[in-house]
Order: sequence, then C-alpha cells, then structure tokens
Amino acid sequence: MIRPFIIAAMTADGFIAKDANHAAFWTSKEDKARFVELTKRAGVVVMGSQTYKTLPRPLADRVNIVYSRDKHFEGTETTQDEPRVLLAKLETRGLKEVAICGGSQIYTMFMKAKVVDKLYLTIEPLIFGKGITLFKEDLLADLTLLSHVKTESGTLLLEYKVEYHGAQKF
Ligand SMILES: NC(=O)c1ccc[n+]([C@@H]2O[C@H](COP(=O)([O-])OP(=O)(O)OC[C@H]3O[C@@H](n4cnc5c(N)ncnc54)[C@H](OP(=O)(O)O)[C@@H]3O)[C@@H](O)[C@H]2O)c1
Repeated sequence: MIRPFIIAAMTADGFIAKDANHAAFWTSKEDKARFVELTKRAGVVVMGSQTYKTLPRPLADRVNIVYSRDKHFEGTETTQDEPRVLLAKLETRGLKEVAICGGSQIYTMFMKAKVVDKLYLTIEPLIFGKGITLFKEDLLADLTLLSHVKTESGTLLLEYKVEYHGAQKF
C-alpha cells in the first residue's frame, strides 16, 4: 500500500507563507535537511502550481508532479487527478511513499481525501501574523505524535501519524 505523507513548515501562528509568491526559503537548515532526506526517500514530490512557481527548477533526483488545470512546467509531470487516482497510478509505478509538498490547496485536497498517512510538520519560532494557513477548509483528523526534535535555535521537527476514524468525537 502506497503511503502519502504531508511535509510542511509553518510559523508558530500557523502560516506556511506570507502570500502565494512567498518561497519557503525562510525555514531552518534542519527543516531543509529533513525535507531533502524525506522527499528523496519517497522519490516523488507532489505540489500545486503556485508552490512550483516559487522553485527555481524541478527538485533533483525526484519525480516532480505538479497540479495544474492549464499549465505544464518543463521537467515535471502535470496532473488534475483526484488524490486516490494519482496514488493508484503511482503505486503501479512501484512507488512506496509520496511526499505531498503543498501548498495549502494541495495539502487540503489530500487531507479531505483522507489518504494522508503521516504529517511531518516543522514549527519555526516565527510569527507572520497573516498569510497562507497550512489548511484552508473545514477538516477533522486525529494525530498521534510519533517523534519530536527541538533544535538549538528552537525549531520543532514533529512527526505525526494521521488517522481519520476517531475524529467524530469533536
Ligand atoms: N512552508 C511550507 O512548508 C510550504 C510548502 C509548500 C508551499 N508553501 C507556500 O504555499 C504557497 C502556495 O500555496 P497555495 O495554496 O496558494 O497554492 P498551491 O497549493 O501550491 O497551488 C495551487 C494551484 O494548484 C492547482 N490545483 C489545485 N487544485 C487542483 C486540482 N484539483 N486539479 C488541478 N490543479 C489544481 C491550481 O493550479 P493552476 O492555477 O495552474 O490551475 C492552483 O492554482 C506558496 O507561497 C508556497 O511557498 C509553503
């Protein structure tokens, strides 16, 4: 069974960016190192076109899949598939994990589809006050904290298991 994980960095007040053009270069070196390690382990990164546009080029040594209704970016594969359809296609290609790399629209779409197995969340010791939130629609899921690391500079690197069945208690 293919296992999709969300990987995201946010401020202590819950923002992943100041606006849609704000590249995620503001995160700590430990966050960047974890991003490279986990996305290379998965071998495939999935993101929305807004996020892709903040990158200088496709992420090396990983299949880059970009959600867009009308654009194609060189060196990437474009999709409009429902999450479960995309995951089934990736499974037939022999992939075991999929890194869902944002932004908010794509994180939300995969959470709503109830397919996310893990959430790798970095909390940076920063406040943006306003901006783009991690998710942008009504959602309910249970998280179990599997691991946590606090860096010297105060960044928290969290690993959660995501489950959907118990969430109705709220
Ligand atoms: N801090 C972090 O960890 C982190 C991680 C990732 C991203 N970000 C930030 O998040 C921001 C972007 O987030 P965002 O929510 O604005 O945009 P996004 O999720 O990156 O991309 C949205 C785009 O995805 C496409 N899309 C969405 N649903 C689709 C569907 N069902 N079928 C086909 N295409 C679909 C559309 O592209 P078209 O308009 O081309 O059709 C839409 O405009 C950027 O600032 C980025 O830096 C932060």
